Amino acid sequence: MESTLMSSIIVFLVITSKMSAKGDSGALVLYDENNVLPQHKPYKHFQFGSNKISIRQNWAHDGVAGIVWDAAVVMCEYIVSNTEFFKGKNVLELGAGTGLAGLCAYLQGASVLLTDREESIGILKENVMRNTAVRSNKEASHSSFAYCSVDQTCDSTFLGKDNSIEVAVLNWSDRKNTYFNSEWDVVIGSDIIYIESSFDDLLTTMRQLKSSSILLSCRLRYDKDYKFIELSKEYFNVKLVVYDENRDIRIFSFRFLD
Ligand SMILES: C[S@@+](CC[C@H](N)C(=O)[O-])C[C@H]1O[C@@H](n2cnc3c(N)ncnc32)[C@H](O)[C@@H]1O
Repeated sequence: MESTLMSSIIVFLVITSKMSAKGDSGALVLYDENNVLPQHKPYKHFQFGSNKISIRQNWAHDGVAGIVWDAAVVMCEYIVSNTEFFKGKNVLELGAGTGLAGLCAYLQGASVLLTDREESIGILKENVMRNTAVRSNKEASHSSFAYCSVDQTCDSTFLGKDNSIEVAVLNWSDRKNTYFNSEWDVVIGSDIIYIESSFDDLLTTMRQLKSSSILLSCRLRYDKDYKFIELSKEYFNVKLVVYDENRDIRIFSFRFLD
């Protein structure tokens, strides 16, 4: 009885696989890497200078935070071509998503704190670990990875050391984050100017971080996005430092008005 059932299953599988191969059925769709939308690719691989970075994406689970945006790529290119500016600096990244830009700063010798909303921390943490584990074992004995929980307790003894990398929750609506008390040489953010209802919070966060150098790379898609730039001029001197025409990405620097 059991062997008859097994034979029927095998015959059924053979027939359906032949039908699929001939295109008689939609049951089998062959995976074609070139036909997958960039946001649906599970991995994206980059090379900036001599550094390779591999990012896992998860659009279905993490939405906008789970994929690499062009603005992050342009920010990386900027960081890599301004190594001396980033080397040895304390850098905080806002809305880090998959963490590409912050990783680039880290690989150029900065100490970096990558931040995002609590719900997006998983993919960020995973990508930081994926790209630092090898490096800390093989290249830099002082490299470290630390994860700071919502209550700001960090599970590493490496915090504050040169060329460290850390992940933490920082929601722009949070007015009392302890990271506002630290000194940040540079604050970076890529593609974070997109939710109009968050503009006030984002501007307040930028002001609370008190960094003398804030760099945001962005694609200004709608009138509201330009409005953010105008709003920020009440507090900052805003300068366009890069315009990547092919990707339609701008990097602006924001410096406090005197
Ligand atoms: C378009 S994604 C950009 C991600 C990444 N920086 C990149 O360029 O690939 C916007 C990011 O901003 C983060 N974000 C949005 N609102 C936020 C908030 N209120 N506080 C902190 N992060 C926020 C999202 O979680 C997401 O990671």
